Amino acid sequence: MTIQPFKLERFYSIHEFTAKHLLCSSDCEAMTIGDLLALENGANEKFQNHWLGYTETKGNPALRQDISNIYSTISSDEILVCAAAQEPIFLFCHAVLKPQDEVIFQFPCYQSVQSIPESMGCTAVKWTVNYNDNKPEFDIDVLSQLITNKTKVIFLNSPHNPTGHHFSKEEQQAIIALARKHNIIIFCDEVYRELEHSPQFAIPAFADAYENGVSLGVMSKSYGLGGLRIGWLATHRQDILEQIAILKEYTTICSSAPSEFLAGVALRNRGEILKRNLEIVHSNIPLLTTFFDKYADLFSWHQPNAGPISFVRMNFDTDDLDLVNRVVAAKSVLLLPGDVYDFKGYFRVGFGRKNMPEALSKFEEFVTENLLK
Ligand SMILES: Cc1ncc(COP(=O)(O)O)c(C=O)c1O
Repeated sequence: MTIQPFKLERFYSIHEFTAKHLLCSSDCEAMTIGDLLALENGANEKFQNHWLGYTETKGNPALRQDISNIYSTISSDEILVCAAAQEPIFLFCHAVLKPQDEVIFQFPCYQSVQSIPESMGCTAVKWTVNYNDNKPEFDIDVLSQLITNKTKVIFLNSPHNPTGHHFSKEEQQAIIALARKHNIIIFCDEVYRELEHSPQFAIPAFADAYENGVSLGVMSKSYGLGGLRIGWLATHRQDILEQIAILKEYTTICSSAPSEFLAGVALRNRGEILKRNLEIVHSNIPLLTTFFDKYADLFSWHQPNAGPISFVRMNFDTDDLDLVNRVVAAKSVLLLPGDVYDFKGYFRVGFGRKNMPEALSKFEEFVTENLLK
């Protein structure tokens, strides 16, 4: 298999653990194992006694039950637990796609949904964002024109990395109607789901809303527990889950037993975890709004209605990678350049972490010292 290096992950591997201030994180605030266990009576003792043998390939049944409670029509048998979000994207592609198939993906994107199909000899067709007065939009008429009789899968990501775009219920229904008409599978990466900034922006999971829908979920982002490396696929399509389970026996076989236990505790207490993370988001957003208003000549952003990230346009003539490298060298503040998405002229900011205000004020120092002259 020949696959393109993952530009975003390569960039992160250089800077994530050396930059002091991360201003582009896509995950919410994490917590300690002790804090997580304290959320549930008796969990600490149960964790100490948890069995460290292998678990089921499809995932511990108790965890699958906890995961299925996130959905409205999905049962625990319609869940497959995987290693975070990357493994299920990889396995889904290998389970469903053949060379010469076409897939459509929102562009810019988290690179897996383009590079994995391409590495398999598929054609990956871009459904490109439109910026309408800074607001990211995906035009459904354009999507309909991209569909051919070879289109096998539409890859969606909502809330979207990196633009922060999130589909409305009406848009979701229109996309499903199109996919249904052409018998296309929808794979929706929903790793930022449940972090809608107000309940009115929540939409059903694609696995609930469409009989050929596959939803990807993970502990890493909205719940802030990336270290667990637990993710899952939810779908009514048993044939797809079965094919993925067969492939998983060549990758991880089963997930980590302690992580499965901890993920269960987190999901049973997800209301509390999400409340805390949304409070962080709601306290960070006004700081970003003030900042981008103050420096409107330099930057433009559109406040998203879901998720912990947004893409910011640079209104001056500097290469985004060059700017990001200068900011990290001068102030140890990390931004994510549009370059890693092959979408120049933008950078990503993240606002799900408690220490975002310090990172933003360090970035402001850079701006006043270097960009206002
Ligand atoms: C949209 C999207 N999907 C998948 C992933 C991968 O998540 P994980 O690190 O939990 O595998 C990310 C990580 O940034 C992401 O933003």
